[in-house]
Amino acid sequence: MPQIPALFTPMAIRGFTLKNRIVVSPMSQYAAVEGAPTDWHLVHLGKFALGGAALVFCEETSVSMTSRKTYDDPAIETEAQVRGWRRITDFLRANGALAGIQLGHAGRKVSTKAPWEGFASLTEADAAGGRVPWQGIAPSAVPVKPGGPVPREMDADDIRKVIALHVDAVRRCGEAGFEVVEIHGAHGYIVQQFLSPVVNRRTDGYGGDRRGRMRFALELAEAVRAAWPADRPLFFRVSAVDGAGWTMDDTVALAVELAARGVDVLDCSSGGIEGPLTLSIVPRVPGYHVPFAERARREAGMPTMAVGLITDATQANAYVAEGRCDLVALARELMWDPNWPAHAAAELGLDGLDLLPKPYAWWLRRREEVRRLSPTEAEAAE
Ligand SMILES: Cc1cc2nc3c(=O)[nH]c(=O)nc-3n(C[C@H](O)[C@H](O)[C@H](O)COP(=O)(O)O)c2cc1C
Repeated sequence: MPQIPALFTPMAIRGFTLKNRIVVSPMSQYAAVEGAPTDWHLVHLGKFALGGAALVFCEETSVSMTSRKTYDDPAIETEAQVRGWRRITDFLRANGALAGIQLGHAGRKVSTKAPWEGFASLTEADAAGGRVPWQGIAPSAVPVKPGGPVPREMDADDIRKVIALHVDAVRRCGEAGFEVVEIHGAHGYIVQQFLSPVVNRRTDGYGGDRRGRMRFALELAEAVRAAWPADRPLFFRVSAVDGAGWTMDDTVALAVELAARGVDVLDCSSGGIEGPLTLSIVPRVPGYHVPFAERARREAGMPTMAVGLITDATQANAYVAEGRCDLVALARELMWDPNWPAHAAAELGLDGLDLLPKPYAWWLRRREEVRRLSPTEAEAAE
């Protein structure tokens, strides 16, 4: 029997099995209404399940309304939001994918506009249009950029509250039908603000050396793990390097501690602490985060996921086959081709149609059979 390409081997994590190694990376859509996902999200996410991805991560979703980046981001704080997510997770599951959610808290990066408005901070002028700015919180009162809004420095009570918000949110993730949760520890949001020696200037036990700056992330991960059922996987997205003082050595040390607290997969990204989110800390070559996922996997001994310009079936398969990462996550390529997993399977010699839903696969299979016939045979088959 021919060997299954590594990209299409299943992977069991706790009580759930990913049917292949292809994961939909979180993609903010700026299309939520009052923090609830809409029909847009159902269609946007639903088509990735139809296309054969094993695990579909919904975009960064705030643990509370006031920790959102923009007015158009989703949250998971109210019953209506939970109901909105439930509709989506039901669809994903019914169509063969696991449903994941990325939980976030923007910290000092709250109260901004969408990327197509330059991620600019909301101002009093925006308030007239109904987008009233509000103040963020952060480990230290350091603005995102000089002259920008200054966040309020968190005290010990704020730290407890943010952890409690995550605990409440992760319980609601269970009610909303998610199988996988990811803590957003990357891209300059609250967890990374604590990790960063640039943003975190605290002199208490949550700042100072690496151990102090990691304390918030570790307490958060521990609390989320305790509140998330033991059979459900927990991922953590890290900015493996941020170009502003956080290095890969730091990431390996963090990964070791996260794994000890029951985090199952380290999702390796980069950047976000200084400059716009789009700032390239790592040169944008194909698979640009794979070396980080590879090193964390080897040195911390935990499963990893790589993301960043993974667009080709042979490329993706090689990363998994060579043991450089356990999972590959794709974002923009899936916008271009939501059926990428099925196409990748075909390219690697499998029956790609097996990954598509029956109402598509039946017709496409017939089309393939007809294509193989000679013109005379095809005419007779009509
Ligand atoms: C439209 C869009 C929205 C994104 N939103 C998020 C997000 O909510 N959370 C996150 O961690 N990364 C987000 N990202 C980053 C992606 O998850 C991914 O890491 C990045 O795009 C690199 O992968 P790619 O080359 O396959 O697109 C977003 C990317 C795009 C293109």
